[in-house]
Amino acid sequence: MDRLLSAQPVDDDLQSELSLRPKRLIEYIGQQKVKANLEISIAAARKRGEALDHVLLFGPPGLGKTTLANILANEMDAAIRTTSGPALERTGDLVAIVTNLQPGEMLFIDEIHRLPPQVEEVLYSAMEDFHVDIIIGQGPAARTMKFELPKFTLVGATTRAGLLTAPLRARFGIVHRLDFYDFDALTIIVRRSAEILNIPVDKDAAVEIARRSRGTPRIANRLLRRVRDYAEVKHQGAVTLDIAREALKMLEVDEYGLDEIDRKLLAAVIERFNGGPVGVNALASSIAEDRGTIEDLYEPFLIQIGFLQRTPRGRVASKLAYDHLGYSNRAGFDSRKLF
Ligand code: ADE
Repeated sequence: MDRLLSAQPVDDDLQSELSLRPKRLIEYIGQQKVKANLEISIAAARKRGEALDHVLLFGPPGLGKTTLANILANEMDAAIRTTSGPALERTGDLVAIVTNLQPGEMLFIDEIHRLPPQVEEVLYSAMEDFHVDIIIGQGPAARTMKFELPKFTLVGATTRAGLLTAPLRARFGIVHRLDFYDFDALTIIVRRSAEILNIPVDKDAAVEIARRSRGTPRIANRLLRRVRDYAEVKHQGAVTLDIAREALKMLEVDEYGLDEIDRKLLAAVIERFNGGPVGVNALASSIAEDRGTIEDLYEPFLIQIGFLQRTPRGRVASKLAYDHLGYSNRAGFDSRKLF
C-alpha cells in the first residue's frame, strides 16, 4: 500500500516548500472567503463531534490545495492519508486504503479527476454510505461482500473541476474554488517565507517578487529562493529591490511574471495563428508543449490577466498581449485591423 501513499520529499526546494506551508487556518494567508467558510464547517463538525463532510478543492496548481487539506486535518485533530488519482490504478488499491481508515480520519486524493472510472465507482458508495462492495471469486461462483467503513472525510483536489464526473462532484458537501492571490497577500507570504528561511528581504523587494509570481504562492516561494541564491553569490546576501530586479531579469521573469514559455505561447498565437482563434491542440504542437500543461499551468493565468481569451472557436490573443510583447509598435502593424 505504501506505493499508493505519499512519497518522501526528495530535493531541497521541496523540503523547504514543506517547511513554509502553514499548519493552521489562522496562519493561512489569502483566500478569505474559502477560509471563512471552512472555519464554519470545521467549528460545526467539531461541535457535533462528527467527521467533516467531504471536501472538494479546485483551482490552478500552486495555490494551496494540498496545504489546505493538511490544515483541515490539523484543525479536526485527524490523521490524514495522502494519495492521488493516477496512483490508484485498481479498485483494490482504493479498497486497501479505505478499509484501513480509522473513524474521523481524512483521505486526501490529489488530481482526483484522474481516477480510473472503475475506482471512481468504488468511491461513490464509500463516500455516500461508508461501505465498499468487494467481489470475491470469479464467474458463477463470484460473490459480493459488503465492507462497512468508518465515517471518514474525503478531501479531493483538482486543477480541472470541469473534468470531474457529475456523480463524483455531487458527493462532495463542501466545494471551494481557490483563486489567484492578489499582490498584497503574496507580499505577506513572501515576507513570512523570508522570515522562516532567514533571508533578509527589503519590503519593496518582497513586493517586487510578489508582483511577478503569477498570483501563486508556490511561484512566489520559488522566486524568493532563486533571488536569495543570486543575492548570496553576486552580493552579500541581503535582498534589495535592485538585487531582486537583477535576479528576476536573469531568470527571464518579466514584470507580469511571465516566463519564456508564456511568451512563446503568446508569440505563437500572434505570429503563427494571426492572433487566433487557435485550438489548444494546434497551439500545443506548435510550441512543442503538452496540451494538459498549457491548459492547467499556463492558460489560467494568461486569461486572468487578460492576455488571452478563450472563445468557442479557440484561443485569442488580446491587445494587451500585443502591447506587452512589443508587437503593437512594429512598423506596419495596425492593431485596428485586429481588434
Ligand atoms: N505559503 C504558501 N501558501 C501560503 C498561504 N496561503 N499562506 C501562508 N503561507 C503560505
